[in-house]
Amino acid sequence: MTKVLVTARSFAKSPEARAVLEQAGCEVIFNPYDRPLTEDELVELIKGMDALVAGMDAVTAKVIAAGLPTLKIIAKHGVGYNTIDVAAAAAYGIPVTITPGANNISVAELAIGLMLAVARHIPQMDGIVRRGGWSRMTGSELYGKVLGIIGMGSIGCEVAKRAHAFGMKIIAYDIRPRQDMIENYGVTYLPMADCLAQADFLSLHAPALPETIGMINKDTLKTMKRTAFLINTARGDLIVEEDLYDALKNGVIAGAGLDTFVHEPIRDARLFTLDNVVLTPHAGATTHEAVTRMGVMAAEEVVRVLSGQPPQNPVKI
Ligand SMILES: NC(=O)c1ccc[n+]([C@@H]2O[C@H](COP(=O)([O-])OP(=O)(O)OC[C@H]3O[C@@H](n4cnc5c(N)ncnc54)[C@H](O)[C@@H]3O)[C@@H](O)[C@H]2O)c1
Repeated sequence: MTKVLVTARSFAKSPEARAVLEQAGCEVIFNPYDRPLTEDELVELIKGMDALVAGMDAVTAKVIAAGLPTLKIIAKHGVGYNTIDVAAAAAYGIPVTITPGANNISVAELAIGLMLAVARHIPQMDGIVRRGGWSRMTGSELYGKVLGIIGMGSIGCEVAKRAHAFGMKIIAYDIRPRQDMIENYGVTYLPMADCLAQADFLSLHAPALPETIGMINKDTLKTMKRTAFLINTARGDLIVEEDLYDALKNGVIAGAGLDTFVHEPIRDARLFTLDNVVLTPHAGATTHEAVTRMGVMAAEEVVRVLSGQPPQNPVKI
């Protein structure tokens, strides 16, 4: 019987994903610990496995070598494959696959949720009511406002579609503009400086690259409207967090909704003292639907490769 080691802990929560493997006749072996495995643990567990569905664990060259000669595929449960030694896998002819697109909608919905939460002070009013109070905080509508999207890729486009339905005017900055978003959702592409200056809500959806890291800093924050809200569900590194703290504290911008941080969990506890920020723990992809989509996509890649077919979403090196 073919054996599949699953170290991605959320995979176990998806009966649909497990069923894909079991219906293909695979024996599924789960991560026995409620945490990523150490290299030594993985080296032991991977022996004799035909496939690995990898979570956040470091799949090093040593781990991959320990899986030989049976290991035929490493299917990453997600898109971030920086934890996998892709070059070592390639050297042994083992494909590494990812699950692109599985969480686009979930992350986009959280970005919209954060916009609503900061603009309408939802967490703050929840706190007031729980403490026995009944005072209302005056918020702002999304309707008619300018949404600036930095990085109009898979997730940015899903945000734009939803914002369009809210009656927002959408401007965007991306190094690769998409004609379909201009035609179908009235998106206007502008230079980054214009997006920052015109946005009532600025939502970040660019990857963390040398040219994007720290793009939101004390100089660029100063160019934004004092009434603007900043939303980050992309990567914490896009923002210089100390500068954002100062801007939020001193009214340089009105508020922020943040799902991703430079250090996770957050190290700079000063953010907790601010009323105009809503914080979530990198939970953009944490929905039943996204977890199921990731699991099913990873499981299908395993079945495909073990039955001699090429993988659909291999990492190219
Ligand atoms: N919060 C979460 O849980 C969560 C989950 C998944 C992804 N993410 C993050 O969301 C972000 C977007 O993911 P995606 O799947 O939409 O990626 P994507 O690759 O589909 O889109 C990224 C877009 O950014 C653009 N871009 C690249 N360099 C740029 C630059 N210098 N300036 C402006 N735009 C630039 C690209 O052209 C592309 O259109 C990533 O940072 C990703 O890590 C977060």
